[in-house]
Amino acid sequence: MNNIGLFVVLCLWVAYGQESCDRKEMEDTICSLCSQRKESQSGHQIAFFSYMSKNIPIKSITKHKTLVYDMVETNAGHGYDVNSGKFTAPESGLYVFHTTTTSYDRSHSSIEVVKNGKVKDVAWADSMSHDDRAVASTMTILNLTKGDIVQIRVGEAYAGNYLESNQYTRMSFSGFKLS
Ligand SMILES: *[C@@H]1O[C@H](CO)[C@@H](O)[C@H](O)[C@H]1NC(C)=O
Repeated sequence: MNNIGLFVVLCLWVAYGQESCDRKEMEDTICSLCSQRKESQSGHQIAFFSYMSKNIPIKSITKHKTLVYDMVETNAGHGYDVNSGKFTAPESGLYVFHTTTTSYDRSHSSIEVVKNGKVKDVAWADSMSHDDRAVASTMTILNLTKGDIVQIRVGEAYAGNYLESNQYTRMSFSGFKLS
């Protein structure tokens, strides 16, 4: 007899013996058993977190150049490729992606979150008119089909000194499968 069968029998027994089986408790138990089954069926997770090991001089970037986040802290499911900077969806589903970009001392750059070559989100770190930093972030929820590619690239606008990633701030690219 499986767990749910056992629980139903238990409920009936409780229902006869006492007044009724608590509906909420029964739902909680079934929900918990279902989620355990889901986890053990897929058996793995998809999540990555990568960041830049050093500052990016503006003179080293060009329009639409892919930003390659070279330090990989987490790469469950192996979707992120540290050589190309591209994330390839290991399976279909809803995904959440996040980026942070910092411009330093009279610098600016827009960045684009791109899926299969199409721009899905844009942010602009812009400290062009002043010294010190400007930080821009994105959080982008995308419905991906297995094999779809998501990457971060330089956008339309950039100039100045450099984008910053060091002991004070990190430029990062991360994501995970939501469902
Ligand atoms: C995601 O895309 C698939 C395939 O195009 C579609 O069947 C599904 O409804 C979409 N899901 C959401 C939440 O948009």
